[in-house]
Amino acid sequence: MTTPVIELREVSRRYNDGPPALHEASLTVRPGEAVAVLGPSGSGKSTLLNLVAGLDRPDAGSVTVEGVRVDRLGEAGAARYRRSKIGMVFQFFNLLDDLTVTDNVVLPARLAGMARGEADRRAAQLLETLGIDRHARAYPGRLSGGERQRVAVARALMNRPPLLLADEPTGALDTAAGQDVSKLLTDLNSEGQTIVVVTHDLALARSCTNRTVRIADGRITEDLMSPAVAPEAVR
Ligand SMILES: Nc1ncnc2c1ncn2[C@@H]1O[C@H](COP(=O)(O)OP(=O)(O)OP(=O)(O)O)[C@@H](O)[C@H]1O
Ligand SMILES: [Mg+2]
Repeated sequence: MTTPVIELREVSRRYNDGPPALHEASLTVRPGEAVAVLGPSGSGKSTLLNLVAGLDRPDAGSVTVEGVRVDRLGEAGAARYRRSKIGMVFQFFNLLDDLTVTDNVVLPARLAGMARGEADRRAAQLLETLGIDRHARAYPGRLSGGERQRVAVARALMNRPPLLLADEPTGALDTAAGQDVSKLLTDLNSEGQTIVVVTHDLALARSCTNRTVRIADGRITEDLMSPAVAPEAVR
């Protein structure tokens, strides 16, 4: 058995005096899997993603990603961890509007210490692969939603992270742009990229993932391999 990319063991998180945002959630994700996390608003999906990304800490349980105990990292360690292990894509792109597309994309690599020339070359290559190289010098404000999300995906892939996390990546896009992003995630996964995507978009879940995890009231209630994929292909 390969080492899991993600190993959550009985992870709980509660904010203030509210009900648990996440309650004893256990989840193992193996290399090459594409997992959709589905559930109603407020069910704990983003909480789960934030814990995996080291943006938040659990009150109980352990979060291990690529062998790193994420729940035990301090602030600097968590930042380093995110730079090297995680690519993140959000609903509203989170691009820096006063940087060009290229400068947005190279940023994670520059923070990780990659030389400018090498970072620029990799960014150009990613932008070309994602079909947005003609916007390399533009500012994100001039781009469509779908194009901005491609830039965000390029930025997320810049440091070749073993794990790509996406929180509602099609949530702000129209159907056609959503399908483009969905196709992009499917292609990345078929090249071996491990992906966890939180979504309300069933079409996205169906087309680009081979496993579906459902959350309700902070609990994992269902975890299904898609029947189209042979179980040995994802173990
Ligand atoms: N930083 C926070 N402070 C206080 N409460 C929070 C915080 N983050 C999340 N919560 C609460 O935890 C619960 C789970 O929130 P979470 O954001 O994980 O839901 P979600 O499944 O991502 O919902 P949505 O589909 O609307 O994005 C909610 O009740 C939410 O109000
Ligand atoms: Mg959310």
